[in-house]
Amino acid sequence: MSARHKPAAPVPAEVPRHIAIIMDGNGRWAKRRLMPRVAGHRKGVEALRGMIRACAERGVAHLTVFAFSSENWRRPPEEVTLLMDLFMRALENEVARLHQNHIRFRVVGDLSGFSERIQTLIRDAEARTRDNTRLTLTVAANYGGRWDVVQAVKKLMRSGVSPDAVTEASLAGQLSLADLPEPDLFIRTGGEQRISNFLLWQLAYTELYFTDTLWPDFDSDALDAAIASYQRRERRFGRTSEQVQNTSGVDE
Ligand code: IPE
Ligand code: IPE
Ligand code: MG
Repeated sequence: MSARHKPAAPVPAEVPRHIAIIMDGNGRWAKRRLMPRVAGHRKGVEALRGMIRACAERGVAHLTVFAFSSENWRRPPEEVTLLMDLFMRALENEVARLHQNHIRFRVVGDLSGFSERIQTLIRDAEARTRDNTRLTLTVAANYGGRWDVVQAVKKLMRSGVSPDAVTEASLAGQLSLADLPEPDLFIRTGGEQRISNFLLWQLAYTELYFTDTLWPDFDSDALDAAIASYQRRERRFGRTSEQVQNTSGVDE
């Protein structure tokens, strides 16, 4: 039987192509156990390791995580130092495993805020993993959504573009995640229901999911619950429900 005459199979529920996560709640996780905050951050790195694997296994193509915001420098200097230390050690120890698992790694944010050593590790890791295609892991570090829009505008202006020629597409093309599809699903752990200056432009039509689960406790079952919630949503992009149902699977 030719493919054209096959009985219509039920459309499998779609796995989000791109998931963006605010990994929040490490400090509270530690506090509940009477441990120092950094113990929560260490657990947070483990949780991220599990999440990368779970996303790859489920066929998610892009995972973008918020690791350190441009506002997190306001934390006590001891915590900032420990976070930088943890970031450096994660870069030193995890990249080989990512590469083995065919994961492309990159960092978005104002890298000039980091030590030379961290900047070198980031550049090396990006170069080493650039041709991997199983999953793109993007870590947002010293990142702010407003910073991203401003740096995009600067790039556009430097290119000499005239104001009338600026379009949504040309501005989007200069943003940090320009080469990725916009996130389908946004997850914030830790109970707060805010964006905290994460991806501002890119989340315009992303499905938002908030959970009280603290980041170190966010495991593959918790991911499945978030994906199941996503799969129950109807993404209308401004249209009516009837239009969406009549054109399911058709983009324009
Ligand atoms: C998120 O956990 C990690 C970073 C911001 C680096 P928090 O450290 O914000 O944890 P809570 O919100 O204090 O519990
Ligand atoms: C957002 O979490 C940033 C990261 C998870 C890296 P915060 O804990 O810094 O956010 P606020 O301060 O509660 O908004
Ligand atoms: Mg927090």
